[in-house]
Amino acid sequence: MGNDADQNSSDSAVIVTEADSEDVAAIAAFFWEAWRGAGPDAPGWAGASEEVIGELTTVDAIQARVGGPDRRMFLAWSGSRVVAFAATRTEDDRTVELVGIVVLQDMLGRGVGTPLLESAVHSATQEGFERMLVKTEATNERALGFYRSRGFGPSRTLTEEVEGTSIELAELIRAL
Ligand SMILES: CC(C)(COP(=O)(O)OP(=O)(O)OC[C@H]1O[C@@H](n2cnc3c(N)ncnc32)[C@H](O)[C@@H]1OP(=O)(O)O)[C@@H](O)C(=O)NCCC(=O)NCCS
Repeated sequence: MGNDADQNSSDSAVIVTEADSEDVAAIAAFFWEAWRGAGPDAPGWAGASEEVIGELTTVDAIQARVGGPDRRMFLAWSGSRVVAFAATRTEDDRTVELVGIVVLQDMLGRGVGTPLLESAVHSATQEGFERMLVKTEATNERALGFYRSRGFGPSRTLTEEVEGTSIELAELIRAL
């Protein structure tokens, strides 16, 4: 898949593609850059220690997340650099979960997250899913604002253990 992203600033064009196994090194570099750029305790990074990022960026861990039967990953590229990623996982026959979406710190608020989300939505719709759900930290105002203005409505709040810490989460759902 591949959509041209909508850029209304002077940034060079950002392109969205679905990730495949050729992209493993670029994805690993992205995760490290995104994690370092966000800093400790950043919204959206609950439980993400250096050890966790190390585990997430092994070739096997990334391979398991791209193009598997129940998982999809989407990348926003600026040239050969991945500047944002989104990942989905099948929850049940009707539902796909957006399990992650992250834009690099220096690209936030520039319209990169929107085409990435829409690529994930388009893919899930094409596959016949009826709804997309997402959980985010209840205090992550930027992400909550993003989801609400992109068609997601509130569903429930819940508490989950993330890497040994109890986190309050808001769950939102978008009909596809
Ligand atoms: C959430 C995220 C993916 C959005 O991507 P983005 O590229 O910044 O989003 P876009 O520029 O496409 O859209 C911006 C929208 O976000 C919302 N938004 C941005 N800043 C906001 C803020 N401070 N408060 C509330 N809403 C905000 C607005 O709805 C805005 O849309 P508008 O410009 O039409 O009003 C990005 O902010 C991010 O990576 N955050 C850090 C990681 C994270 O928290 N991920 C979600 C974990 S579940």
